Amino acid sequence: MPKFKQPKVTIIGAGNVGATTAQRVIEKNIASVVLVDVAGGIATGKALDLAEAAPVESHDRGIVGGSDYELSKDSDVVVITAGIARKPGMSRDDLLKTNAEIVSSVAKQALKYSPDAVFVVVSNPLDIMTYLTKKVTGLPSNKVVGMAGVLDSARMRFFIAEALKVSVQDVTAFVLGGHGDSMVPLARYSSVAGIPLSALLSAEKIEEINKRTRNGGIEIVNHLQTGSAFYAPASSTAEMVESIIRDRKRILPCCVELNGQYGLKDIFVGVPIKLGCNGVEEIIEIQLTDSEKAELHKSAEDVKVNIEKLNSMLG
Ligand code: NAI
Ligand code: 2OP
Repeated sequence: MPKFKQPKVTIIGAGNVGATTAQRVIEKNIASVVLVDVAGGIATGKALDLAEAAPVESHDRGIVGGSDYELSKDSDVVVITAGIARKPGMSRDDLLKTNAEIVSSVAKQALKYSPDAVFVVVSNPLDIMTYLTKKVTGLPSNKVVGMAGVLDSARMRFFIAEALKVSVQDVTAFVLGGHGDSMVPLARYSSVAGIPLSALLSAEKIEEINKRTRNGGIEIVNHLQTGSAFYAPASSTAEMVESIIRDRKRILPCCVELNGQYGLKDIFVGVPIKLGCNGVEEIIEIQLTDSEKAELHKSAEDVKVNIEKLNSMLG
């Protein structure tokens, strides 16, 4: 590890998403990284491989790996990507039981060494695993945040840019709700260089983009056959990590605990937030039409059903 003080990010799970997030975080010069995995050799080997790329990539961020949580001591951010990923025919909810056991175990171990960290949850089913991380760590609501909306919105932005043959840089889009089939792509809050999407694309084309966004995860699973997406998920996770480490206070759609906002309570679901060094610094309530609100509530209801399923499994 470098001799000078650097921000420190621990990523638990050195699989596809974890290792790629580690790469993004060090190569974007955001922080030094510790990779922790139950398969210690994988974490150690991938960390060493990434460290050996540093001279070529021209950065001085350190990276180490292993299975011992002591390595993670005093992290500023802990990212949880441990768990199993989807295969064709599986929904994110099929991962519930296995990943609940993994996520609760890793979250508790990480907390022992980094009680002040912001926890960023990536493992699926995302909204339920974010709820579980908050529950088992006992951390305050601002310290636990889930990654999904940034990814779903990035997919939507890409599909819009492709349809209009414009730069992705000029496209903004918002996807709210749970990270499942009932997620809510908000075309009304999507624009290209400030021009509302409805002025540029037909209602049919917008609906086609909404549908492809909702199916963005399974589209990749069906191509890969052996696992799920990881490049765009890693970019999205690194964007959240950067906003926390550099206290950028970006406004990003993230999964957080709602306590009355949007008429929802005691539920974890994706909404726009201000993300800074204290984690969730503000939950932003945008105005929704009745039908958008109904879609958000339906999505939250789907998350609630799975939280209840999880709680009955845990007994
Ligand atoms: P992967 O299978 O490539 O990696 C998972 C890693 O977790 C493996 O290296 C495995 O050894 C490790 N692991 C398992 N049990 C562990 C434990 N008890 N302690 C520490 N490490 C443990 O899977 P991938 O593709 O990296 O996906 C990881 C998770 O992220 C999955 O649940 C996937 O569904 C989810 N995901 C979520 C996204 C989102 O938008 N929130 C996007 C993409 C993936
Ligand atoms: C995705 O949306 C699997 O949740 C993951 O790609």
